[in-house]
Amino acid sequence: MTEVTLQGLNKIFQGRDTVHAVQDLDLTITSGQITALLGPSGCGKTTTLKMIAGLLHPTSGDIRFDERSVMRIPPEKRGAAMVFQNYLLFPYMSVGENVGFGLRMRHVDKLITDKKVADILELVKLPGMQDRRPKQLSGGQQQRVALARALVIEPEVLLLDEPLSNLDAHLRDEMRELILSIQRQLAITTVFVTHDQEEAVVLADTIALMFEGKLTQFDQPNAFYERPVNVRTARFFGGVNFVAGEKRGAVVETALGLFDVNPDHFADGPAVITIRPENLRLGESGKNSIQARIRGHVYVGTHARFKVEAGDQLLEVVTDAASVQQFHDGETVQLGFPRHHIWLVEPEEA
Ligand SMILES: Nc1ncnc2c1ncn2[C@@H]1O[C@H](COP(=O)(O)OP(=O)(O)OP(=O)(O)O)[C@@H](O)[C@H]1O
Ligand SMILES: [Mg+2]
Repeated sequence: MTEVTLQGLNKIFQGRDTVHAVQDLDLTITSGQITALLGPSGCGKTTTLKMIAGLLHPTSGDIRFDERSVMRIPPEKRGAAMVFQNYLLFPYMSVGENVGFGLRMRHVDKLITDKKVADILELVKLPGMQDRRPKQLSGGQQQRVALARALVIEPEVLLLDEPLSNLDAHLRDEMRELILSIQRQLAITTVFVTHDQEEAVVLADTIALMFEGKLTQFDQPNAFYERPVNVRTARFFGGVNFVAGEKRGAVVETALGLFDVNPDHFADGPAVITIRPENLRLGESGKNSIQARIRGHVYVGTHARFKVEAGDQLLEVVTDAASVQQFHDGETVQLGFPRHHIWLVEPEEA
C-alpha cells in the first residue's frame, strides 16, 4: 500500500495566456483509501491527476509515493495507472488485447498475461469478453474495460478521471458499486476525480475540494456538510441556509435577530450563520427562535420541504412528513435555530 504526498505542487501553463492551473497544493493521499478530487470545471483536477501519473511535469513542488520522490520516474515505472474520462481504448485491438496491453509492454509471459486478463475481466464483470472489439460494447462496458486495463498491471496507485460521467444514471450507480467493491477488495490507493459532490460523498473516504487551482478544504465527507470552511464550500455542497451578521462573543447579531452561538472556533467580526434545512425547527419557540411566515411547501413522502420567509430572506426547512398536517402556507410560525447546529463561516469576499 502506498501513500501519495503532494508538496507545494504548482503547474503553470505558459502560452498566449498563462494559466496557473494548480497552486501550492499540499495533500496527503492516504494509503489504501479513496480520495476524491472534487471541484468545478477548470479547477485543476485533471492537471493534478496527470502530475501524479507522471504525464505532466509540475512547474514546482514534489510528489512522493511513500518516502520516495517520483519526480524523475517516468509514468510507466511509477506504479500508477490512470483511467481517462473518455476511456481511450485502442479501437483496432480486441478487449483482451486492450486489457493485456500494459502486461505486454512489460514483457510478461503470454500465458500469464492471458490468465491475468481473464481474471481481471471477471473482476469487472465482463467474463469471457476477450475477443470483442471496443465498438461492440456499450459505454458502461467500455468503461469497465478501461478500468480492467488499469487494474491488470496491479498498480500501487489508481487514478480515475471522472470515470462515471459518460454513463447514464443507472449504469453510474452500478459502476460506483463496482469501483467501491474492487477498491475495498484490492485496497489500492485511489484518487477519484469528479465535479459531482454527491458522487464524491458516496465514494470517497476523504474529499479534497478545489477552486481555481487551490485546495479549499480537505476533510471527511460529512465535514463538508457540517463544517464547511466558507460560504463557497457550503454553496457547492448545496441546500444550506445563510444568515449574515456580526459576531460578538457568544452572540451573532443579524437582520433577523440575535442568535446564541458557540463562541469558540470563530473570531469576533463579520460572520455568516450556516444551518442545514433539516436542522431548522419549525414551530419551535424560545431562545434562538425567530418569527417567520410559511411561503409554500412540498410533500416528498418521507419528508416535507418548506419555504419560509424571515425578514427579507427565504429559508428552506426540511421536516418530517407529518408536519404538512400541522403547518399551513401563509401561517406565521416560530422558527428555531438550535445553537449546536449553527456553524459560522467567513463572509464571501466581494
Ligand atoms: N495543456 C494546457 N495548456 C494550457 N492550459 C491548460 C492545459 N491543460 C489545462 N489547462 C488549463 O488549466 C486549468 C485546469 O484544467 P484541468 O483540465 O486540470 O481542469 P479540471 O478541473 O480537470 O476541469 P474539468 O472538470 O472541466 O475536466 C484550466 O483553466 C485549463 O484551461
Ligand atoms: Mg478534467
